[in-house]
Amino acid sequence: QGGGSTQFAMVAENLGIHTGKAAYINTGVWAKKAAAEAKKLGIKVDVIASSEDRNFSYIPKVQKVEGDYDYVYICFNNTIMGTHYEYIPDTGNIPLVADISSCVLSEPIDVSKFGLLFAGAQKNLAPAGVTLVIIREDLITETPLAGTPTMLSYKTHADNGSMYNTPPCYTIYVLDKVLHWIEKNGGAEGMYRRNKEKADYLYDFLDSSDFYHATTEKGSRSLMNVPFLTKYSTGASDEASLAKEKEINDKFVKEAAAAGLVNLKGHRLVGGMRASIYNAMTLDGVKALVEFMKKFAAENA
Ligand SMILES: Cc1ncc(COP(=O)(O)O)c(C=O)c1O
Repeated sequence: QGGGSTQFAMVAENLGIHTGKAAYINTGVWAKKAAAEAKKLGIKVDVIASSEDRNFSYIPKVQKVEGDYDYVYICFNNTIMGTHYEYIPDTGNIPLVADISSCVLSEPIDVSKFGLLFAGAQKNLAPAGVTLVIIREDLITETPLAGTPTMLSYKTHADNGSMYNTPPCYTIYVLDKVLHWIEKNGGAEGMYRRNKEKADYLYDFLDSSDFYHATTEKGSRSLMNVPFLTKYSTGASDEASLAKEKEINDKFVKEAAAAGLVNLKGHRLVGGMRASIYNAMTLDGVKALVEFMKKFAAENA
């Protein structure tokens, strides 16, 4: 329990115990929050790569990580920025930790390449309330950082079959249903085929449009979260341009909602719109969005 946010601290408390040093790749809000939490716990955090220079629109290429780090931390799918790793950094013997909250079971993932993977449930698994952690057994320590509460030790959960305290039964019940649905639809491979088709449909439209554009760079694009802007997001900061941009974005979100397409408002850090097309979204849903976008573009060109 405690969601992805609690994992930010648990990772540091349970893994940052030998040299007290950890490497973080900064790809936006969620990676930053995780690093901040580690620092709070006294971990020496090295940011070994960052995509902040271009507003987190891409995933930095980190070929090889070396150093006496206890772990290397990445956020595999960046929900807000709409970026996703298309490679797994080579960290040699250093355990690689990945936050897969917003891409869990959207594609196959080679678990053997990671020391620890975690995901809050609420995107592709179940309602919020249960958290998935996959941890290499040798990383389950008996001696987390001094003062680590019992509930924040992975050993507590591992030793007690994830039932040290009362489990969120209803959420687990729904999780079971969702996992059966995923299995019936081809498992992680099936989800990937479905998600790739959906995302390609939307990105192809964005890349061919004169009115809209994706905010992320090719080679770093999320299959789950697709932020986009209109031609009225010019980057100009004068009052008239900003007012026009806001007017168009507000109009888009309002008219889309009236057409049954909801939650399209982008995060304030990126602006514009964001389509979240998790496993549960159908290709027909994405097609309906694109049809609406074409109509809106024609009416507001
Ligand atoms: C990638 C990522 N990590 C962590 C979190 C935080 O998860 P929670 O709300 O479960 O604490 C989120 C929430 O959206 C997320 O998208």
